[in-house]
Amino acid sequence: MTVGPNAPGAFIVFEGGEGAGKSTQAAALAELLQARGRSVVRTREPGGTPAAEAIRAILLDPAFAGLDDRAEALLFAAARGDHAQRVIRPALRRGDVVVCDRFMDSSMAYQGIARGLGADVVANLSLWATDGLIPDLTVVMDIDPQVGLGRVSSPDRLESEPLEWHRRVREGFVEIARRDPRRYLVLDAGRPPEDLATEIAQVVDALLG
Ligand code: TYD
Repeated sequence: MTVGPNAPGAFIVFEGGEGAGKSTQAAALAELLQARGRSVVRTREPGGTPAAEAIRAILLDPAFAGLDDRAEALLFAAARGDHAQRVIRPALRRGDVVVCDRFMDSSMAYQGIARGLGADVVANLSLWATDGLIPDLTVVMDIDPQVGLGRVSSPDRLESEPLEWHRRVREGFVEIARRDPRRYLVLDAGRPPEDLATEIAQVVDALLG
């Protein structure tokens, strides 16, 4: 049984800086839940629908270095709106578990805090775009950006930002999670992946009831 605000489904998001191992943990969780008979939708942001994937291509293209900060925030929100209404909400209504790489906390940390647009402004933009969709659980994989960026081979537009900017992103995630600890699980991404997977599974078990 699922008891969170998105019941009958559950919405679980993996967040964190570049190279934190989000996708590995998201895939492991999805596999575990599927093995237990849950119906799982695995998706990512920006992306998850054809239109949102097209917006993603614009957002990550290094040719658009210098894209205006507000335009950037609006494009992330536009992609999220389509993804939320056409993929995530229908899955939650069916009772599925949605496991998503990145969601509104990325906008709050990257655009709100690192770009300086304001975390609350950007959160409200995301809430408007999605008609109020909020994850049941957000797992923040915390990593030193110097280590994380070292794992990136060909940097996209955002990965090409300076180290200091990525430090602000990291502090942003930690600060956002600190404000609402019940909805967040902050993990040291440097721990062994199997240990992280075990802890995540315990917290998800408690959420799913
Ligand atoms: P992606 O390749 O998915 O990053 P990763 O593999 O590290 O998860 O690229 C997404 C990039 O977009 C990443 O740099 C984070 C950034 N981003 C934002 O700035 N705001 C957002 O709202 C989202 C969803 C992502």
